[in-house]
Amino acid sequence: MKRLSVNIDHVATLRQARGENEPDPVTAAHLAELAGAIGIVSHLREDRRHIQDNDVYLLRRTLKTKLDLEMAATEEIIKIALDVVPDLVTLVPEKRQELTTEGGLDVASQVSYLKEVTKRFHDKNILVSLFVNPNENQIKSANKAGADFVELHTGEYANAKGKDIEKELARLKKAAKFAHKLNLKVNAGHGLNYRNLKPVAQIEEIEEFSIGHALISHALYVGMERAVKEMIQILSESAA
Ligand code: PXP
Repeated sequence: MKRLSVNIDHVATLRQARGENEPDPVTAAHLAELAGAIGIVSHLREDRRHIQDNDVYLLRRTLKTKLDLEMAATEEIIKIALDVVPDLVTLVPEKRQELTTEGGLDVASQVSYLKEVTKRFHDKNILVSLFVNPNENQIKSANKAGADFVELHTGEYANAKGKDIEKELARLKKAAKFAHKLNLKVNAGHGLNYRNLKPVAQIEEIEEFSIGHALISHALYVGMERAVKEMIQILSESAA
């Protein structure tokens, strides 16, 4: 069955709004694990707008599943990641003014730099995923850079309307097959929710989904356990 990783950044966003200790994203991560998530994702941004360094260290020490640290490939964050030693790093582009990660990483324009960065992580047994648009050139470049995974950006699919939904789904399918043929493992995420997940979850080559905003929003009303279980239920129905 396809696997669910839960991104807990939005719990930290709420905490930072008050500058106090609650709600605690690490507690949210533990509850998500208990409900069946097979991994936790958090994005240590350069501007530290939500997750803080201490959260990442605490997650590393206390998670029972796996930690996927989302990050920009900048020297400051690379050094922290090499010290934390997450199970996986997902390299993403980062802009100061964006509300969320807006597009995939332009791997094609920086293959040799990303190859060097990937090697530094591999030397510490940390797997590397590159967050890319469903585009063959970017996927080919991710393979050249030595990545273990690509995470396909599902944002355009999530934002599509009418006939464009099928078009975006077809792009994701084609990209997933292409990556799989290159022996890359395939994850996907961004903008996925309880309504739009099923068709993407039916793409055979995608192994894992990284979901944050919709799940954390739903958890506010129904609690983390139910929010995670309902998402896992969609993944299991997709496999049927
Ligand atoms: N994957 C990546 C690489 C992301 O940057 C994000 C957003 O933080 C997600 C998945 C999750 O997106 P969403 O919060 O829309 O579910």
